[in-house]
Amino acid sequence: MNDRNIIFIGFMGVGKTTVGQLVAQKLNRKFIDTDEEIEKEYGIATSEIFKKFGEKVFREKEMSLIISLCKQKNLVVSLGGGAFLQEEIRNACLASCIVIFLDLTFEKWRERINLIIESRPVLNGKSIEEMKELFYKRQEIYSNHHIKIDTDNKEVEDIADQIIKLLE
Ligand code: S3P
Repeated sequence: MNDRNIIFIGFMGVGKTTVGQLVAQKLNRKFIDTDEEIEKEYGIATSEIFKKFGEKVFREKEMSLIISLCKQKNLVVSLGGGAFLQEEIRNACLASCIVIFLDLTFEKWRERINLIIESRPVLNGKSIEEMKELFYKRQEIYSNHHIKIDTDNKEVEDIADQIIKLLE
């Protein structure tokens, strides 16, 4: 396996952090969750950052953090689900890292909605139809990847093992 960073992308609540953490542990690499890093810097939750400073400030932080992570090696990084909307982030990640898209069908994602919704400001106040629209719009953005993993009905452990095998 080469020393390029492994980057996880995908919709909110798909399991980027859980899978990323496990892959990092199995590969003995440092794990970074970009939302957590930004939250640490502000000392408040993402939803509070959105409320207090606005989405634009969050997206700017996301940009500078991810661009600097792309200059490093041997990391496993889980990106916030909206990070890939920014072209500069997409280009930097695709050029220097291995980008893994964790995919999930909308039907399966819907089953998790109650666990996800409260901490995700982007979903706030949206109807299920609007969420569905956002989900499919984002799929186009996530089609920019190196590896896609279908995660429907799969255990986290199996997903991590599948990824490691593919990277060998
Ligand atoms: C967002 C996804 C979240 C977080 C923020 C915005 C998005 O990350 O960055 O709430 O726009 O999709 P997760 O994908 O880890 O939930």
